[in-house]
Amino acid sequence: MATAWFETVAEAQRRAQKRLPKSVYGALIAGSEKGLSMRDNLASFDQLGFAPHVAGLSSTREMSVRVMGQDMSMPVIISPTGVQAVHPQGEVAIARAATNRGIAMGLSSFASKSVEEVAAVNSQTFFQMYWCGDRDTLVQRMERARAAGAKGLIVTLDWSFSNGRDWGSPWIPEKIDLKAMFKLAPEVVVRPRWLWSFAKTGKFPDLVAPNMAKPGEKAPTFFGAYYEWMQTPLPSWEDIAWLREQWGGPFMVKGVSRVDDAKRVVDLGATALSVSNHGGNNLDGTPAPIRALPAVADAVGSQIEVLLDGGVRRGSDVVKALALGARAVMIGRAYLWGLAANGQGGVENVLDVIRGGIDSALLGLGKSHVNQLDRDDVVAPSDFYRSLGNS
Ligand SMILES: Cc1cc2nc3c(=O)[nH]c(=O)nc-3n(C[C@H](O)[C@H](O)[C@H](O)COP(=O)(O)O)c2cc1C
Repeated sequence: MATAWFETVAEAQRRAQKRLPKSVYGALIAGSEKGLSMRDNLASFDQLGFAPHVAGLSSTREMSVRVMGQDMSMPVIISPTGVQAVHPQGEVAIARAATNRGIAMGLSSFASKSVEEVAAVNSQTFFQMYWCGDRDTLVQRMERARAAGAKGLIVTLDWSFSNGRDWGSPWIPEKIDLKAMFKLAPEVVVRPRWLWSFAKTGKFPDLVAPNMAKPGEKAPTFFGAYYEWMQTPLPSWEDIAWLREQWGGPFMVKGVSRVDDAKRVVDLGATALSVSNHGGNNLDGTPAPIRALPAVADAVGSQIEVLLDGGVRRGSDVVKALALGARAVMIGRAYLWGLAANGQGGVENVLDVIRGGIDSALLGLGKSHVNQLDRDDVVAPSDFYRSLGNS
């Protein structure tokens, strides 16, 4: 039997595909429309090369950073995702792995586990919200997260409610009842290990969003919460400034691509922003964040912490992003593959693989600290970069 340990994120993804029912795997692949952005997120990293040194290299390499007021052992943060039905321990397993590896955990408001359960095992939890519901509801959810111990708020703004995919979307039931079980049975019976992992707990995935519950009410279903979001009038910049004031602590805006938007995020007093296209699940055709990052970092990097997420699958990707101006990156699918492959241990495995890759790249580039990385460390084709909204 193969060992549980895997040597790359690509192998974790292969195991995830073998282990998860087709619909669950398809929900993690996600993407939107034609998949242009999703593909570009990966292809863009492949177009970047390194300019390595060969002697006089540093025998010690340091990669700790401070982001949103939190000290971390490496410049990698868990990006918020709803991990319904991947693993019975879901975000709690991810949060534990993040704690064990000394990094912060972004928890989605659409997550399958509550912010109380997650913050109890990761003291560096950032709670993520969408502009969903009225102002009282937003404050109530935020205060609940604060009371649970969340150290920062991530507000994700880049969602365009696109719901079609050329390769087809997986069928996801409103709830797991008899009818749904019957319909899903053919794909589930061929995934006995996944089935057994839930069966052991005596509970099947319930597809609810506990962090979206109104006080005293039971958690809405994932789709119920999504419906509330679809009905909510879209926020203005003033609304986001209001949200930041209500929170008062470390505040990140996730989903920025343009320089003019980045400046507005600075103006509203945010601590951080993430250059991101939601992992290619958003407006298809939005360029890969790594292409847009340098223009954003040049414009606002001295005033705000600039992060990147989208397409990071290895430590060398992290190093490329830092060389092009990011303070840290957030990862999404990489840890989801680890979780699916081997639970908490699989997420730790992914984080170890990424750490090892950062270390190798630092070694090759002759750096003793991630803060020494700069643009000269990376080689890019002349038409690589995209400077959006920078006129
Ligand atoms: C299955 C899935 C669910 C996601 N759910 C959320 C979410 O609830 N909130 C959010 O801000 N981003 C969400 N994202 C986007 C991630 O936080 C992140 O931006 C993206 O995954 C980064 O790209 P990567 O997967 O290539 O690392 C989700 C992404 C995936 C793949």
